[in-house]
Amino acid sequence: MARILSILVGLFFTVALAWSLLVGLLNFEMPHSVEHDFHEHPKDVHFASDGAFGKFDRQQLQRGLQVYKEVCAACHSLRLVAFRDLAALGYNEAEVKAFAAGFQVPGIDQTTGEATTRPGIATDYFPKPFANDIAARAANNNAIPPDLSLMAKARHDGAAYVYSLLTGYQDAPESLPEANRPGQGLYYNPYFPNLNLAMARPQ
Ligand code: HEC
Repeated sequence: MARILSILVGLFFTVALAWSLLVGLLNFEMPHSVEHDFHEHPKDVHFASDGAFGKFDRQQLQRGLQVYKEVCAACHSLRLVAFRDLAALGYNEAEVKAFAAGFQVPGIDQTTGEATTRPGIATDYFPKPFANDIAARAANNNAIPPDLSLMAKARHDGAAYVYSLLTGYQDAPESLPEANRPGQGLYYNPYFPNLNLAMARPQ
């Protein structure tokens, strides 16, 4: 009898503890930060590649590559991608070769052994726009443009996030506190977690 009683008492306290924990959790509110109030989730975009039966649209892919080459490549590396990987975007061997040849990649002078550059070939990787992080920072208001190879995987809702970021530049709202306004060389963009980023709206 005493044992049953003690089990019941123990059970009572366990349930009471669990209950108070639950109520506490439900009523607990984090103090909202300014970033939290102004930050926006990625736009609701739909891509041909969405879902289990999604398909990549070859023309869209090739246009994306062109934009990378003409705009983003000035600042962002794509160091995990080799030119031959572009076959996945629907290019044939000759096209991959021609595309690679349009880039200068690091090479070695065959007579002097000195570092030089040469036109790319299919097995080369995309060259980096900056020699090192110091040069990258110096050219970008002290921020390093991140490598874009895995960007869509690295961010939540990646494709929609990148799309939203690129189309999300706007004037900072009137109600934004002074401390959160973009300083020199920063640009207001509510899709970026801290609201201000060091990348100007790409042209
Ligand atoms: C003039 C240089 C420059 C160009 C051109 C540029 N970017 Fe950026 N980008 C940056 C810098 C610098 C950052 C880092 C910003 C920061 O941390 O505040 C960045 C950050 C990013 C981020 C990361 C945001 C995050 O969540 O960390 C993405 C995605 C991005 N750029 C995509 C692009 C794409 C796509 C293009 C081409 C359409 C492009 N950028 C063109 C300089 C550039």
